Amino acid sequence: KLIIVITPTYRRPTRMADMTRMGNTLSHVKDLHWVVIEDGQAVVPQVERLLQRTGLNYTYLNAKTADGYPKRGWYQRTVALRFVRAHAKEMLGNLTKGVVYFGDDDNSYDVRLFTEYIRNVKKLGMWAVALVGGTAIESQNVVNGSVASYKVKWNPRRQFAVDMAGFAISLDVVLNTTAVFGKTCPRGLGAPETCLLEDMGLKKEDIEPFGYDKPSDREVYVWHTKSQQPKFDKAKVDVNGFFAENDRDVL
Ligand code: UGA
Ligand code: MN
Repeated sequence: KLIIVITPTYRRPTRMADMTRMGNTLSHVKDLHWVVIEDGQAVVPQVERLLQRTGLNYTYLNAKTADGYPKRGWYQRTVALRFVRAHAKEMLGNLTKGVVYFGDDDNSYDVRLFTEYIRNVKKLGMWAVALVGGTAIESQNVVNGSVASYKVKWNPRRQFAVDMAGFAISLDVVLNTTAVFGKTCPRGLGAPETCLLEDMGLKKEDIEPFGYDKPSDREVYVWHTKSQQPKFDKAKVDVNGFFAENDRDVL
């Protein structure tokens, strides 16, 4: 089964650090295709070289956020979904099944998220995410193998109360729908996840919860860590928060 990981990314001082960490994790996973979308006018050579070094199959596109979209990766994930729909056959190669995961660049991933959870998703897999939504761990309340409710602090009434990092969808579902990320998601009070999954025609009953077979020793496999803007010598920082032009290429 092919794992397709969709990652929006953009120039920020911690970006190469984040992408290096993520690349180091993903390179342990076989049958994975990394779709990276640069939020910018052009792709960035430093990122392209990083992707080459991972040895992974990857696609690196650029798509600057269009007018009216939140500047938080929504537009880039939409472009990536359209790319996947257009190129699924080539991406699959000899493989017959696939699963799509939205992995942002600054999260922290245990390699087992991919090998134990994502690889085993049949339709809609879901699991715990730490350090998100104003709480330590967002998870699902699983009763008899089904999701009865969500253990989240923020907007628990959402049909799918989960962060982007907490679910993966089968490629079949992606290919059989045209749903993308819109410009708003009022049902999610601004968070995009529930709108996408609802627009894909998925139901709460479709959720396959992972990590709750043994609640006594369950572990978290993904953390919604947030990269902080480091403090630079202001005199050397340009309007975008970067060092001088030469240093900008390194970041
Ligand atoms: C959180 C969620 O984890 C995101 O999945 C969700 O899209 C976002 O909230 C939202 O509000 O909609 P958060 O950690 O707060 O994201 O934001 P970032 O990590 O800064 O951005 C999410 C992704 O979009 C990252 O991969 C980032 O590199 C990318 N991004 C961010 C862009 O491509 N362009 C931007 O201008 C900002
Ligand atoms: Mn983030």
